[in-house]
Parts: sequence; C-alpha cells; structure tokens
Amino acid sequence: MSNIGSYEERLKNFDWSIAEKELGYKEGGVINIGWYCSDRICKMGNGDKTALLWENAAGEEKRYTYNDIRVFSNSIATFLRRLGLKNEDRVCLFMDRIPELYIGLVGILKIGAIAQPLFSAFGDESLFIRLENAGTSAIITQRKHALKVRKIINRLPDLKHIIIVDHDGIKELKEKEIAFSMEAERVEELELFPTKAESPSLLHYTSGTTGMPKGVQHVHYSLISQYLTAKWVLDITENDIYWCTADPGWVTGTSYGIIAPWALGVTQCVLDSGFSAEIWYRFIQKYKVTVWYSAPTAIRSLMKAGDQIVRQFDLSCLRHLISVGEPLNAEAVVWSEKVFGLPFHDSYWQTETGSIMITNFPGMKIKPGSMGKPFPGITSTVVKPETFEPIHEPGVIGLIAFRPGWPAMMRTYWKNEETYNGKFKNGWYLPGDRARIDTDGYFWFIGRDDDIINTAGHLVSPFEVESALLEHPAVAESAVVSKPDEINMEVVKAFVTLKPGFTVSEELELDIMNFIRRKLSSLAMPQEVEYVDSLPKTRSGKIMRRLLHAKEWGEEIGDVSTLEND
Ligand code: WT7
Repeated sequence: MSNIGSYEERLKNFDWSIAEKELGYKEGGVINIGWYCSDRICKMGNGDKTALLWENAAGEEKRYTYNDIRVFSNSIATFLRRLGLKNEDRVCLFMDRIPELYIGLVGILKIGAIAQPLFSAFGDESLFIRLENAGTSAIITQRKHALKVRKIINRLPDLKHIIIVDHDGIKELKEKEIAFSMEAERVEELELFPTKAESPSLLHYTSGTTGMPKGVQHVHYSLISQYLTAKWVLDITENDIYWCTADPGWVTGTSYGIIAPWALGVTQCVLDSGFSAEIWYRFIQKYKVTVWYSAPTAIRSLMKAGDQIVRQFDLSCLRHLISVGEPLNAEAVVWSEKVFGLPFHDSYWQTETGSIMITNFPGMKIKPGSMGKPFPGITSTVVKPETFEPIHEPGVIGLIAFRPGWPAMMRTYWKNEETYNGKFKNGWYLPGDRARIDTDGYFWFIGRDDDIINTAGHLVSPFEVESALLEHPAVAESAVVSKPDEINMEVVKAFVTLKPGFTVSEELELDIMNFIRRKLSSLAMPQEVEYVDSLPKTRSGKIMRRLLHAKEWGEEIGDVSTLEND
C-alpha cells in the first residue's frame, strides 16, 4: 500500500492541515525548514540514522547521520553569524554536489537568512547577473569556483564575504575571502532564528522570456507542500534509500533533494559525479536505492545506452521511479517498465510552484505520455489564451492554470513585483505552459507558451544568450532559438550577423560557442551558430524568433503580416 492510498479518497478529504499536524506546526508559530531537516529528526529519536550517503567521481565516500547534519549546520550557522550575517541577508551557495552544499542550506535557513543556490557550472556573467540582482552578502564556494567570483567581485559592492570550504591553508586568500571548514567543530547548541510561515527562505533564479533571470522567492511555509508531496507522490517511507539526481542549483535539488527528504527523516544518497549509465546503475546497486527521482534527458540517455548494460547490475532494490523537468515521452515510460519492471511516474511543476503540481500518483493507472492529475488541494485546469476562461471540452489545448494559494507557491519575483503580477490572469496563476485534459482528467503536456528553451530539463532564456552574444567582438546582431535534439529534447541555436571586417569561419563559430560557455554555462552554449545576412524583424524592429524557431522545427510559419524584411 502506498502512502497516498486512494487518490479519490484523498481528494475528498483534503486539507493542508494534514501536513501541519504531522509536522506539529500551529498557525502563527515558528516554522524553520533548517530545524525541521535536522533538529526535529534528532528530537524524534533518529539522531543516529543516516541522513546522507555521499560519493564523488574519485570514489571518495562520506556518511552523515541526522545528528551530524544538526551539528554541522549549526557550525555553518554560527560561522555566518560571526561574520555579521543575519535574517533575510542573501547567502549564495555556489558549489558542486559536496556535503557542504546540502548542510550549508540547512545552516543558512537556521539563522533566517535567504539561501540562494546557484548551479556551480555557471560562468562569471551568469553568476554576476544573479548576485547583483539579489544584493547577495556572502557566497559559500569551493576554491575552483572562487576564481569566477574573483573576476566579478569589483562589480558587486554588496558582496562582503567569499567563504571557501576547501581551502588548503597554504594558498593566499584574496580580497574578502575567508576559509571555513564545516567539520572543524561540532556545534551542539544554536539559537534558532524564529522564522514564521511567511519568512523568506530561498531565492531560486529562473529564466525569463524578455528580461533577465528572475529571483523566485519562497517562504518557510513551503515545507508543508514539499513534505506532503514527497510523502504522497515520491512515496517516501521510513526505510527507503532515496536518490534525487537533480543538482541543488535548481529547485528540484532543493525542494526534493534537501528539504523534503530530510524533513521526512529518510536516508538519501548523493552522487557528485558526471553521468554515464554504468556509473548510475552501479550507484543504485551499491546503495540499494529504492526511490529514484530523475529526469527525462537522463532516462533517454540510459535508453540509448541499451538494455544489455541494465542486466549487468542488480537493480532489484528499486521500488518507485519518478521523473520531472521536461516532457517524459511515452517510449521512456514503456522502456523503464520493460527493463526495471517499473514505470517512471511523470511529475510536473516549476521553480515558481515550489512543489509538485500534476503527477502520476503511485498506484494510479499510467497513460504513458501523460503527466497525470493534479495533487489534492491543487485546483487546476486549462484556460483559453485570449479570455483566460476555463476550457470545459476535453482534448482542447489551452494554457495550464492553477488557483493560487498552495503553501509552496512563490511569494514574489525578487524586486520584480510587476512581472510577478503579470503571471496571474482572471484569478489563475499561469505557469506559461500549454496542455490538454482528456476525458479521464489526465493532463497532456503540449509545450511552452513562450520562447524559453528547455534543454535537458534546464530552462535557458534566449534573451540572456542574445545579450551575451552581443558582447562578442564579431557579433552585430543575434537571435536565439531552440532546435530539436534526440537526447536533450531541445538545444540552443544562435543566428548571428557579423560586424564588418569579420568573416564566416568554423573557428569563429567555435570561438562564439566557447565564449558563451565560459560566460554563461555549457547549457546555454549554442550547439550551432548559423551566420545570416539579416535577421527577420517586425516593423517595430523586434526580432521574430518565432520564424526561426518554426524553420528549425519544420513547422508552419503562421502569420507574418508584421514582418519587415520578407
Ligand atoms: C518548466 C519549469 C520543477 C521541475 C524542474 C524544472 C517544464 C517541468 C515537466 C513535465 C513537461 C515539464 C515546464 C515548466 N516542465 N516538468 N513533467 N513535463 N514539461 O523547473 O526550471 O522552473 O522549469 O519545465 O515547461 O514550466 P523549472
């Protein structure tokens, strides 16, 4: 029997207070995610239970109990306080998937500061944009990533501390840098900052269509959604070994890679290594993973690696598989059922929603290719794009819409209330995706309703890439769209016009690609640069990405009546 039991029954009796009661939270009281992820589990008598099993590419292993998480997060919290950091200050986590990243988040939350996790593969420009916008006071990082921070420190007057967790004690520390070793001291006591339901907790940056990345601001009360969805959708129980493959630089890696599993007191494992089918299967086998939360691009890569390799490992430990981040194609579900004896259950949500919204629940009949049904307590439909009125006929494509008000919903975009308000229409929150609902109430994902590129489950803003391209000495103008890719679903493609004096060449293409990789990230790097004489523009001078996109995807071009240079 799964945790959720009967979906229909849960729908009838649903109230978020179910989670509040289980967590012992009372309205108006203190709720601090950091405390829930460590101290509470110890208080319940599980201090010696393993919280984290960690391994890296070099085969180094570490193990932490819940009591370790408690004292080491206290250690981080105390250190931050000594530096003068306090509640609501933004503290960035910029690290590979090392234990300090996971425990650091817990420590930051304990002093009421706002954790700002950023993907460690970000280049200096991606980093700069997000640190500047957040007015970040401190960044916790590793030596190798500190080099990127050094490049931009002069442009970030608010950034006072660069905390290096793996300093060798020998190399010279530069301006504002300070060495810190989490495990140097076990700090038993800490005065917790008494955050309340609406106190800010996390700031996650996500890509926008027209503007720069937006800081999605969450609150401590989000725990209520994260806890219950992990329990009912991921079906986590006491004796599970849970593996969430997402990096905490992204929301899946925090909501379901730190907060939910630790608040549930489960043992989770983390692999800080690159991807290969062999590495992943060996990891599952070694740690006897039972619940596995992953993503379609990874599943497609595993499919490509073939069935033979699956048979070389004993994966009989696996019990429940869930996927998120991009469309999970029907073939992937059918394949996983064939090779693992278990289907991947799709789940749909986004940085802004903070927790799973639509999903195939354990025990529910899966229609491969469908995202499933809304979580109890979530009112969801599809609305007409013009009037934002709900569509009642089954099978008609509309915009996905949610009634606002679930606990993990973002509270605003950081310093960007206007864009935040623009996400609500006719009383609905619109995540920016299109779908249809079938006669049985299952949601089928159609696509995004904007130009944002979803490559391997990561959102990339064409605007951010175009802006960075303009800084390349050879680029006069650019337009960035997606192009189809077998594994990553979509990848970035750039169309550019060159400045006078520059000639088309393969070297230049490579140079432009690497320029973006270093500045932004490997995800944002165009996989192809196409040189053009001019870009299609509207009469008002706006580049029509839609046309270039249609060409890449072999689609109908549609209305071009406002096109200037056709
Ligand atoms: C966007 C959100 C929180 C998950 C990690 C990504 C797309 C997400 C699915 C799915 C099809 C999906 C949507 C969404 N997406 N899950 N199951 N099927 N598309 O969070 O970076 O905020 O991206 O990812 O377009 O809006 P994110």
